Amino acid sequence: MPYTVPKLEDYSPAALDKAVQELLTAVRQEADAVSNEADWKAFRDRWMARKNGILTQVNDLWLKAAPGPAKRDVGSRVNALKVEVEQIVDGAQQRMSGAASRARLGSERVDITLPGIHKPIGAEHPVIKTMNEIVSVFRNIGYSVAEGPEIETDYFNFEALNFPPNHPARDTQDTLFVVGQEKKRQRDRLLLRTHTSPVQIHAMEQQPPPIRVVVPGKVHRADTADATHSPIFHQVEGLAVDTNITFCDLKGTLDHAMKALFGSDVKTRFFPSFFPFTEPSADVSVTCFKCGGKGCRLCKNSGWIELLGCGMVDPAVFKFVESNGYDPAKVSGFAFGMGVERITMLKYGIDDIQLFFQGDVRFLEQFV
Ligand code: DAH
Repeated sequence: MPYTVPKLEDYSPAALDKAVQELLTAVRQEADAVSNEADWKAFRDRWMARKNGILTQVNDLWLKAAPGPAKRDVGSRVNALKVEVEQIVDGAQQRMSGAASRARLGSERVDITLPGIHKPIGAEHPVIKTMNEIVSVFRNIGYSVAEGPEIETDYFNFEALNFPPNHPARDTQDTLFVVGQEKKRQRDRLLLRTHTSPVQIHAMEQQPPPIRVVVPGKVHRADTADATHSPIFHQVEGLAVDTNITFCDLKGTLDHAMKALFGSDVKTRFFPSFFPFTEPSADVSVTCFKCGGKGCRLCKNSGWIELLGCGMVDPAVFKFVESNGYDPAKVSGFAFGMGVERITMLKYGIDDIQLFFQGDVRFLEQFV
């Protein structure tokens, strides 16, 4: 039975004590039963609403109805009662919000002993790693590092490197041309660079001799992808120009670089070749690092692996940068260029160039 405020007949202290105790017992029981916000609001209104709340009824039924002599005693008891009921109502709210926040904390509990979320930080791609290694071999012997644009003009990619217009050597480096340039002179037409050699010209335009520079970078060819070809790959180019640079310097430099890259046991071999921008030109092979030169599958039983192209800078190339101090009668130099993917494949025994570009973590994490 919910509590209702009784009318008082007897205003004796004992009777008042009893009525007060009954009321307090009731309010405490109801307070204990409160278990959520809505309950609590109903509970508060039932007891404290100005209009017809239990305390208002107490005021009307006990205090206002009290006979004159008892008024004083009843008044002070009713006041004390109000204070107490208010405290009980507040207490119920606190207990409830305490319980609610404990429940929330419980549900949001974090186990700080669990292992954290692992974010792999990534690592250098094997091609970039090799490229950096090659660059640092040359930095260690005093070369600076330069880069050039991947979108080049015909002039830098071909003409200034002594590939005249319509020269058949251009066919070996077919590439993508930017569309809509028919109105431009041929030398100004844009294309994706087919090699890093155009940066030789940029470097010589920027810096008078002497110069020693290496150029890492990405290049493009109209090649169909297969196990050894990719339409995008990387090269490291090198250029050294000074007075009295000879083929001996070229041989010594590249021999040192190959030993630094592949181990001091490797030997180098220079074989006559052709590039429009070098004269004489050579292809460089190193002794097979798998069989040491005896002959195996990797070197196709020759004992040698061809790694790069090089040569003495053709005087015709100096002619294009003569105004910056490159007088072909006074300076000489050598240049070289190597494919980074090929070197990486040989170094690690990778048999398919496509693996570099597929982004398969199982492949890549082997090089971390
Ligand atoms: N640019 C040549 C290529 O992509 C490689 C090369 C050969 C670069 C001889 C050179 C060089 O600097 O002297 O096939």
